[in-house]
Amino acid sequence: MSENHSEFDRLVKARRTSLLVDKSRAVPDSLIEEICDLAMWAPNHKRTWPWRFAHVKGEGRAAYGNTVADALATAGKDEDAVAKARTKFLRSPSLIVVGSAQGEDQLRTDENRDAVAAGIQTLLLAATARGLATYWGSCPPPAQKAVADFCGFDRGTAIIGHIYVGWPTGAPEAPARPELRVNHIG
Ligand SMILES: Cc1cc2nc3c(=O)[nH]c(=O)nc-3n(C[C@H](O)[C@H](O)[C@H](O)COP(=O)(O)O)c2cc1C
Repeated sequence: MSENHSEFDRLVKARRTSLLVDKSRAVPDSLIEEICDLAMWAPNHKRTWPWRFAHVKGEGRAAYGNTVADALATAGKDEDAVAKARTKFLRSPSLIVVGSAQGEDQLRTDENRDAVAAGIQTLLLAATARGLATYWGSCPPPAQKAVADFCGFDRGTAIIGHIYVGWPTGAPEAPARPELRVNHIG
């Protein structure tokens, strides 16, 4: 295996879902832009360029949490979930909200989402390569519309990821992967 391959392999396996971050140490906007830019190099059927990014930081995080919490309360979610949403985005100094544009039909909408998910993995790896910790969480369905509005995304944009980003203070253990099975046919 060439040296380049082993470097890439190590990076892929080093990426962890982690919220062990320094909440008080900001991530520069320029770094956030670098990793979002790399996400745009994911494959994308029909070149619809469906990814949408918003960087929520500082006082924006509490406002974002209130937006999510209010949407959950309106949808009748339980008090604990609502209360948690108000503060959970303060767990990292930066949050990247990643959206996926609606397509002209369901197939294109699905393919857009696939492209955005592929882009998120690139973003996570780019962050790892820069020494940043990341955590990909989902946006609860009842909050999707309010979040799209908050982020300035078009109506119909699906929120694919809450990506918490920060400087690591520790590293969780890697969850083991199942045994590889590849059906080689022919
Ligand atoms: C679409 C998506 C949503 C996720 N949502 C959550 C979440 O809500 N909470 C959480 O702890 N992890 C979430 N994760 C991260 C997984 O738990 C994590 O990837 C898995 O445990 C493997 O750990 P690793 O990423 O460190 O290899 C999510 C991952 C993806 C792809």
